[in-house]
Amino acid sequence: MRLLVCGGAGFIGSTFVRQRLREHGDEVTVLDKLTYAGREENFHDFAGDPAFRFLRGAIEDREAVAAATAAARPEAIVNFAAETHVDRSIADPDAFVRTHALGTHVLLEAARTLTGTGEHELRFVQVSTDEVYGSIEQGTFTEQSPLAPSSPYSATKAGADLLVQSYFHTYELPALICRGSNNYGPYQYPEKLIPLMILNAVHGDALPVYGDGMQVRNWIHATDFARAIGHVLEHGDAGEVYNAGGPDEEPNIAVVRRIIELTGASESQLERVSDRPGHDRRYSLSSEKVRALGWLPRVRFEDGLADTVRWYRESSWWWEPIRSGEYRAYYERQYGRALRS
Ligand code: NAD
Ligand code: TYD
Repeated sequence: MRLLVCGGAGFIGSTFVRQRLREHGDEVTVLDKLTYAGREENFHDFAGDPAFRFLRGAIEDREAVAAATAAARPEAIVNFAAETHVDRSIADPDAFVRTHALGTHVLLEAARTLTGTGEHELRFVQVSTDEVYGSIEQGTFTEQSPLAPSSPYSATKAGADLLVQSYFHTYELPALICRGSNNYGPYQYPEKLIPLMILNAVHGDALPVYGDGMQVRNWIHATDFARAIGHVLEHGDAGEVYNAGGPDEEPNIAVVRRIIELTGASESQLERVSDRPGHDRRYSLSSEKVRALGWLPRVRFEDGLADTVRWYRESSWWWEPIRSGEYRAYYERQYGRALRS
């Protein structure tokens, strides 16, 4: 299949591209703005593949999107492009609105134009998140659960999802949505809980746990979420939403304690810090519908976390340029202290 993958230079997008090139023989064009989170290092092992092409550009830029669709001649557009960190959305929501609202709109218009030419069938898959459902104390969200997002990140993602659905209902664009739970694994930018804690643990930095640390997340390995997105792309029904949740739920404090054990860090590095404003208490996602398409998560959290710790330990070439760059200033703003090294 010929794919245009927007946001393919990020954590999950690059994992998806790797899978599609290696396991499906797809031809993949990536369009990515290369924000702080998008990195060509994420292509290190497939950059030279003749079936792969990278174009730098923003999804809200009509000309960049037109050039990308002309080069890719896509049979499907898969949209990962997003601002993805809740804490950054609280501090500075502008880019979230621009990318999720305007960017998704520009992509949908490009897809509508392509299908209108009747040149080929084009499927549109929007990658989304369980955070659009808000927080759930008990039980599990299904695709029927109402949208109740609580942060500027999740609210703008929910807005993008509604716009995608409107293009199915109004213009019959064969659009689908795949919503994942919290992802982890190699290549994740160290602003997120797991890579932040691993790198801080091995550098002797504090491990900043927000509030009481009893917030629960439903962890899915990025390779499992990427396969779910591929399943939805190939087997899902147009106009439908598919949830893909991981096999395990853990409170944050248990995750951090396990990282302390795996890295041999000291318990004394653990530090309680002020809670995130509007912090969602628990996410939990049912995956029955995507399971019915034949998808199953393969990686249990215990194994995936140990592998992830190993990868970060062995991959200083990947994280050193981040940890010595703009990230230091972000960290100081967010946590009110400097990194040790
Ligand atoms: P990421 O922050 O690692 O990557 C985002 C990518 O999008 C980067 O390469 C960035 O350069 C690119 N990008 C941002 N704005 C852009 C724009 N305007 N135009 C073009 N490219 C742009 O994020 P991720 O964790 O890989 O998340 C990918 C998608 O999966 C997002 O849509 C996110 O909402 C969704 N998701 C993430 C998680 C998670 O736990 N990380 C869970 C469920 C869903
Ligand atoms: P995060 O990785 O930012 O993902 P999300 O907010 O999208 O779930 O955070 C995961 C959980 O970890 C969330 O409950 C907030 C918490 N957390 C901390 O306790 N300390 C931290 O330094 C970070 C980044 C997150």
